[in-house]
Amino acid sequence: MGAARHRAVHQVLERGRIFSDPLALRILGADAETAVRDAERDPSRRPLRLFIAVRSRFAEDALAAAVARGVRQLVVLGAGLDTCAYRTSLGERLRIFEVDQPATQAWKRRLLADAEIPMPPALTFVPVDFERETLAGALAGAGFDAAQPTFFTWLGVVPYLTEQAVLSTLGFIAGLSGGTHVVFDYANPPAESDPHAAGREALAARVAAAGEAFRSDFETDALHARLAALGFREIEDLGPAAILERYFAGKGGRPPERGGHIVRAATI
Ligand SMILES: C[S@@+](CC[C@H](N)C(=O)[O-])C[C@H]1O[C@@H](n2cnc3c(N)ncnc32)[C@H](O)[C@@H]1O
Repeated sequence: MGAARHRAVHQVLERGRIFSDPLALRILGADAETAVRDAERDPSRRPLRLFIAVRSRFAEDALAAAVARGVRQLVVLGAGLDTCAYRTSLGERLRIFEVDQPATQAWKRRLLADAEIPMPPALTFVPVDFERETLAGALAGAGFDAAQPTFFTWLGVVPYLTEQAVLSTLGFIAGLSGGTHVVFDYANPPAESDPHAAGREALAARVAAAGEAFRSDFETDALHARLAALGFREIEDLGPAAILERYFAGKGGRPPERGGHIVRAATI
């Protein structure tokens, strides 16, 4: 809900300049207005909102490029209220699997029905509780074809998992025989003298209070070495400076050296 509210507010306060999502407000129903009012009252939410807009934009641009290169399956891991499946023009060329906890999916289906957003024929819901079953087992049962080239998006999930769980999922993705791309976001461990420490700590406290504490962060070089060892041959990683340069034309002062990253890694 938190990420979906940020995407909805971005459509209004920044007019979807980074990431245009015509369903972002609709899926929230009446809550969208409250989200916009809350955001207007609290400008400190803007950096996280823009990061969330950037990660979706980066993921969907990379998806379009991958489909042009032959990808035919999309797996939205930890989909939450992501709306890509319901508005993509790539649906005719893609089979789409949304993977999430059963309770979250049931809630999303109610919101979609309330907003009269139809289920695309290409979409399959894959209910999974990662505490009880594996991604491999759940995907196999849903008709996923491991021999087809596949694109995974995994947005806003990695920080909530242990390092072991993150690397094991990335290992599974890297091992799929048809070849894969994966886009995910992660954070660097905070620097000792981090000028943004107070904001980060407040966010960490909020998510922990909501029952979903942050559990992992990664040093960029070490993560790249792990990705390469797992079999990812192409790694594109945008840190704070690259994000500022690419999406904000370098405006906005000196970016922090460490912080939120968005990555695309591919075995093909
Ligand atoms: C912060 S949300 C991000 C949602 C979405 N990707 C987005 O960017 O809006 C994290 C997602 O991970 C899912 N998740 C967390 N723990 C899980 C588990 N044990 N099994 C399956 N999914 C889980 C949650 O249901 C939620 O949809």
